[in-house]
Amino acid sequence: MRSVIATAAFVASLLAGAAAAQAQQAAPIPGSVLAATCSGCHGPAGRSVAEIPPINGRTEQQLLSAMLDFKNDRRPATVMNRHAKGFSDDELAAIAREISANWR
Ligand code: HEC
Repeated sequence: MRSVIATAAFVASLLAGAAAAQAQQAAPIPGSVLAATCSGCHGPAGRSVAEIPPINGRTEQQLLSAMLDFKNDRRPATVMNRHAKGFSDDELAAIAREISANWR
């Protein structure tokens, strides 16, 4: 009986460890998914034609530095300062990579 309890406790501890490891290694959200949030205002593939500036055809560096400037309040904005704060710097880098590579 004692060994059954010990085995159950051991299995439970393994499961808890596995769950914790899984939570820590949650895959980052792909840049393509993050960048989809930009289309709502900047248009499909960033080719907006109205008030909001188009963001297609830019280099990764241009996009990343604009986003970091918005995030850190170095660039005045109405919307983008708030939007950029919702992403980590790594996520902004992934967005800049995605848009510069695929939004032509
Ligand atoms: C709610 C609408 C909205 C969303 C969503 C949005 N933007 Fe913007 N974006 C704007 C507006 C409006 C401006 C003009 C600056 C301002 O007033 O905030 C702008 C400006 C920009 C600029 C500067 C363009 C230039 O030529 O000066 C970049 C770069 C940019 N956005 C990138 C993004 C990226 C990348 C995303 C997605 C992560 C995104 N935006 C999501 C509304 C939006």
